[in-house]
Amino acid sequence: MKGIILAGGLGTRLYPITLGISKHLLPIYNKPMIYYPLVTLMQAGIRDIALITTPEDYPLFNKILGDGQQWGINIQYLIQPNPEGIAQAFIIAKDFLQNDKCCLILGDNIFFGEGLEQQMIQAQEAPGATIFAYHVSDPERYGVIFLDDNKVPLYIKEKPANPNSSLAITGLYFYDNDVISFAENLKPSARGELEITDINNIYLKAKRLNVNIFGRGIAWLDTGTHQSLLEASQFVHALETRQGVKICAPEETAWQKGWITDDQLIQQSKYFDKSDYGPYLRSLIKQDR
Ligand code: G1P
Repeated sequence: MKGIILAGGLGTRLYPITLGISKHLLPIYNKPMIYYPLVTLMQAGIRDIALITTPEDYPLFNKILGDGQQWGINIQYLIQPNPEGIAQAFIIAKDFLQNDKCCLILGDNIFFGEGLEQQMIQAQEAPGATIFAYHVSDPERYGVIFLDDNKVPLYIKEKPANPNSSLAITGLYFYDNDVISFAENLKPSARGELEITDINNIYLKAKRLNVNIFGRGIAWLDTGTHQSLLEASQFVHALETRQGVKICAPEETAWQKGWITDDQLIQQSKYFDKSDYGPYLRSLIKQDR
C-alpha cells in the first residue's frame, strides 16, 4: 500500500493568509498542517509516500519534510502544475503507484481519535475502495453521501445545495489499483476538475465501494475557513494541554512503530530544544508510551 498526500491548490478560500504560503504549511497550533495528514498515513503503517504539490511550494515542503528518512519513511515529491482536481493525483502518481493499492489523504484534513488506526488497517485489506463519512452540520461544503432507508449508499454528490443527508465524505480514501485507469478516463466537471466524487461513484455503481461512518470518538477537523482553521488549532491545543501529549508528531509515531531507535529520537529532539517539542520527544522514552 502506497500513500499520496495531495497538497496542491492556491488556498484561495483562506486569502489573504495564503497569498504567500501554501495552506498546508500554516500552523495548526504548534505544527505545520502537513504533519497531521502525514502522521495519519504513518499511523496506517504506510511508509512509501508521494506528496503532490505545486512547483512554487515544493521547496518549502522539501525543507520541512525532506526525504522522510529521518522518520524511517520514504517521501517523494510530485508536481501538480494547476489545480485540476483531486482525482488527477492518481494520474500524476501513476509511475509511483505502479501496481500497488493506495491511500490518498488530502493535505488539509486532520483526523484524530480512538480506533482510527484500526479502521485504516481494515480499509487496506478490504477489496475495491473504502471511504469514510462523517456527520457534519454543514454538508453542503463537501462531497455528501446519500443512503436509502436500509442505510445502503445510493450516490455521492459534490457540494449539493440543501442536502437532506448530513454525511460528508472525508478526505481519506483507500483504493485498489484500478483507480488509475478510472482517473485517466474521467472527464472534467463543470468547474474544470477531475472530481474524486466521480471516482467514488464509479466504485459505488460497481458495488466495489465500502463506506465506513466515523463515530463520535473520531474527530475530523476542517481547515477550510478562517474560523475552522482557528478552531482546529484550539482543538489541538486543548487536547495536548490537558493530556500532556502531542497530536501527530511524526518523530513520535516513527518511534512508536519501531521505525527509528531511541538514539535517533534523542538526536532529532535536539533540533527542537528551544521549544517544548524537543523535551517532549525525549520524555516519551522515559515514560515508554
Ligand atoms: C474535497 C472533495 C470533497 C470532500 C472534501 C473533504 O473538497 O471534493 O468531496 O468532501 O474535499 O475535505 P474541497 O476541499 O476540494 O472543496
